[in-house]
Amino acid sequence: MTQPFDRRIKIAPSILAADFASFGAECEAIEAQGADWVHVDVMDGHFVPNITFGPAMCAAIRPHIRGVMDVHLMIAPVDPYIDAFAQAGADVITAHVEAGPHTHRTLQAIRAAGARAGIALNPGTPAAAVEPLLDLADLVCVMTVNPGFGGQKFIDQTAKIRALRAMIGDRPIHIEIDGGVDPATAPLVAQAGADVLVAGSAVFRGGSAAEPQAYGDNIRAIRAAAEGVYA
Ligand code: DX5
Ligand code: ZN
Repeated sequence: MTQPFDRRIKIAPSILAADFASFGAECEAIEAQGADWVHVDVMDGHFVPNITFGPAMCAAIRPHIRGVMDVHLMIAPVDPYIDAFAQAGADVITAHVEAGPHTHRTLQAIRAAGARAGIALNPGTPAAAVEPLLDLADLVCVMTVNPGFGGQKFIDQTAKIRALRAMIGDRPIHIEIDGGVDPATAPLVAQAGADVLVAGSAVFRGGSAAEPQAYGDNIRAIRAAAEGVYA
């Protein structure tokens, strides 16, 4: 889905924390409750120590998502799978800079496949690693946990976020934060310059696709905290 670029806060629930037996209904529920993007965590048991799902699952949930399907690839190699995720309907495809030696080529391939290109950095990777790649990127994802699992403790990366925000300047590149985002940590990353906040456990706790009101409360709480409104 094409949306004009903007830096307003966008909440992107990670379906890693959803009911795996009901992904379609879960995607519909979070969008109805105010989610801006739907974040899809793809893990291969090699780049990260966990396995989730692949392009076929993305294609299956695509009709249940009206907005942006944001696919976070925690896989290595990446390049052989880019076309499959693009054909599955991914709007944003994010690859890790640590996933291989040719991230420049990977970002070109993502755009050539018709998706927006994201580049993710693990907590141990400095901002400077992506500086030469920024003109090929539509999004930089700053991991605030070591990737692989939901529900981990937030790792402070605010200095890195500020450095990236300064590096990006006026370029239309989103800064996404992924890991341990909740109403307590959202203001830190928003003030540092982030605009896309991924949240798994902090969105899905307390609700279900059948009883989704808690999802809405959780999304509103994260958004209000990030926007500096303490209701
Ligand atoms: C971690 C994933 C995250 C994770 C976020 O490897 O990329 O998207 O699901 O989950 P929470 O918000 O629970 O830290
Ligand atoms: Zn993710």
